[in-house]
Formats: sequence, C-alpha cells, structure tokens
Amino acid sequence: MMRVAVLITGRGSNLGALVEAVSVKDFPAEIALVLSSKPDAAGLEIAEKAGIPTAIIDHNDFDSRTAFDEALNEHLEAADIQFICLAGFMRILTEEFVGKWRDRLINIHPSLLPSFKGRNTHERVLHAGVCFSGCTVHFVRPEMDEGPAIVQAAVPVHAEDSADDLAARVLKAEHHAYPLALRLIAEGRVRVIDEKVHIEGAHSPGDYLLNPTEES
Ligand code: GRF
Repeated sequence: MMRVAVLITGRGSNLGALVEAVSVKDFPAEIALVLSSKPDAAGLEIAEKAGIPTAIIDHNDFDSRTAFDEALNEHLEAADIQFICLAGFMRILTEEFVGKWRDRLINIHPSLLPSFKGRNTHERVLHAGVCFSGCTVHFVRPEMDEGPAIVQAAVPVHAEDSADDLAARVLKAEHHAYPLALRLIAEGRVRVIDEKVHIEGAHSPGDYLLNPTEES
C-alpha cells in the first residue's frame, strides 16, 4: 500500500474524489495524511469524516517559502509518506522541495496543459474561444503547471458557457482523472522517460485520455 498525502488549501472536492477512490477494496494506495495550508480549509472536514489524520501548516506562520517547505517536509517524513497529491494547494513549492519529491509529487490543473497554465484558467479559455478544455494530472516540476502529463480529460466548451459553467464541467472530469492517475501510479505502471510519461499496458497516448460525458 502506497502511503499518500493529499495537500489542500480550500474546498477539497478532488480530495473527496480521491478518498472515495481509495476506499475501494483493491485500490493499491491509502491516504495517510491530509495537510492543509489554511486552518479553515473546507476539505479538512472531508478528511476528518473519513478518519484520515490531518495537519495544518499555516503559511502565515512562516516568513519564507523555504521555512514553510521545510516544515511541510518534516510532517510528510514523520508520517512515512511516499507520494504526494496536490489538490487545490495554493502554494508555490520551492525548487528544493520539488527536487526532493521528484516523480513522487503530482498536481491537477483545470486545463489541457501545456495550454492555459496559471490562474483564472476558465476565463482565459472562454476568452480564447477554443472548443475544448479539460484537466491534466501531471508530475510537478519547479515551474508552475509544468511537468509530464499522466492523465488528461477533455470536455467541450459551449458558446453560452460562463466561467462557472465551464469550471463545473471540468471539475467533474477532474474527479475521474485524478483517481485514475493515482491508481496507475500506485499499480507501478507509470514511468517518466525523457520527461514523457509511459504507462505500462497503454497502447496509445489516447488510452488515458478520458472523455467523460456530461452525465458521467
Ligand atoms: C481544481 O480545479 C484543481 O484543478 C485546481 O484547484 C481546484 C481545486 O478544487 N488545482 P478542489 O479544492 O479540489 O475542490
């Protein structure tokens, strides 16, 4: 069983999807710690309800990114964590931390990376007038929203969409994509070679492009 920590800052709906996924009997990973950078993150309640140990490392208590990341690292090591999922974790991690956890640290971003990195993603997608958006689960690199993609899911963009409509459609896709990526990794099927992800048993890159219907 791979011991996973999920790092959050807010709502925690992706945490909820991961908690549900690992509760299935044959899932080869367990969420051993939920760590929040804000004491009032709604996601903490999801963890508590599921009986998962929680910790709060309030970024306001630290005067540098380095000090914050060191505290984070201490907590993760003390809890014997082997793998980290960032799920709406709104802190930029230092190069040192990212290097230490290289290929054991993943994130979900609400766009089809490498397009639309950064914040206000859905507004910028609508402004660009593209027909598809989606989400990407990727290994973390020091540059924001960079790193080899593990799973992507595409959703349509409709002409009448508001940013909230699109965000809700993408979020549903996120809740499929993140558990799938974690499962593939925990099964030991994911390798990074030359900064590209190879998935054992996948015959084409499309094997792990999810296209959930609006109803799913
Ligand atoms: C998600 O849209 C995720 O892609 C982005 O932050 C949001 C977090 O939402 N990184 P939640 O806290 O998981 O509900």
